[in-house]
Amino acid sequence: MQVLGIETSCDETGIAIYDSNTGIIADVLHSQITLHAEYGGVVPELASRDHVRKIIPLINKALEQAQLTAKNIDGIAYTKGPGLLGALLVGSSVGRSLAYAWDIPAIGVHHMEGHLLAPMLEENPPCFPFVALLVSGGHTQLISVQGIGQYTLLGESVDDAAGEAFDKTAKMLGLSYPGGPALAKLAESGQPGRFKLPRPMTDRPGLDFSFSGLKTAALTAWKTSEQSTQTKADLAYAFQEAVVETIAIKCRRALEQTQMKTLVIAGGVSANTHLRQRLTELVQKYDANVYYPRPAFCTDNGAMIAYAGSQRLLAGEQQDLDFSATARWPIDSLHACKA
Ligand code: KG4
Ligand code: ZN
Repeated sequence: MQVLGIETSCDETGIAIYDSNTGIIADVLHSQITLHAEYGGVVPELASRDHVRKIIPLINKALEQAQLTAKNIDGIAYTKGPGLLGALLVGSSVGRSLAYAWDIPAIGVHHMEGHLLAPMLEENPPCFPFVALLVSGGHTQLISVQGIGQYTLLGESVDDAAGEAFDKTAKMLGLSYPGGPALAKLAESGQPGRFKLPRPMTDRPGLDFSFSGLKTAALTAWKTSEQSTQTKADLAYAFQEAVVETIAIKCRRALEQTQMKTLVIAGGVSANTHLRQRLTELVQKYDANVYYPRPAFCTDNGAMIAYAGSQRLLAGEQQDLDFSATARWPIDSLHACKA
């Protein structure tokens, strides 16, 4: 089965084709970074309009890359939510309409299920069950995963998501949007030990996170220090260290609580090298394994949507002729996939 995947939930138009026998055979992406950079964050209306401009040319490009025509596509998977409503509506309406025109099934995919399953596209994929850490710009969640669609939420952020905290702290330090990768880069030249920031919610039991206080602590440290380039790098180091250590503590607890031996990390922040290193060290102590996608599949992309959708399409699921998009959609409300 060859599935066309469409991702338009935020500021990336991602199109890919997944072949259930051979894997990803096309993967194209248009990032809106330069469009939103001057505003310091994503402007939803500009995002929707840009998806409208880019989506059809990118679908053509993906077909060309896979050396296929529309006739070879067996199903369409598009991101139905959660995300920016206007942006989601672009991918949903185009995806559903093309499926109607081509007389093939369509499926609306949960964006975070796409992230969660992205490591399945790697050479050595994880096996169920596992603990998943989803860390993106909008979500920080620990989930017990028994199979596709069988998700139990173990904990989540009560305020800012980890990526959001990275972005806001980066903005405060004057770094360009999107701040997460910029802050991580700056942290490489930071001196360890100069600033000590809190590890929020680690002094009490539970698997929830809170990152908004950490962001404020970083702001206070910045305002009360000599504001040099080195201070900025030292603070970036301390901030990243605090986020990574906090996440590692919660992952350790989740592995202990569930007695599972597999940890999967996905979502934009899972591209963070320091986080990957720390979690690799952590699982070694537990005789467990950690899996994550290649960096390009950590952040938003069409491949993860094509894959997640293909699994549900192969199980015989499909979306009615109507299409809808859902800005808010809890991942634990999904139903099990019968594949
Ligand atoms: O998954 P994603 O592309 O979009 C959402 O679904 O939100 O995640 C984007 C988030 C942004 O907050 C971005 O700053 C963060 O992931 N991010 C990083 C890194 N790369 C992306 N944060 C820290 N370190 C990175 N290397
Ligand atoms: Zn995402």
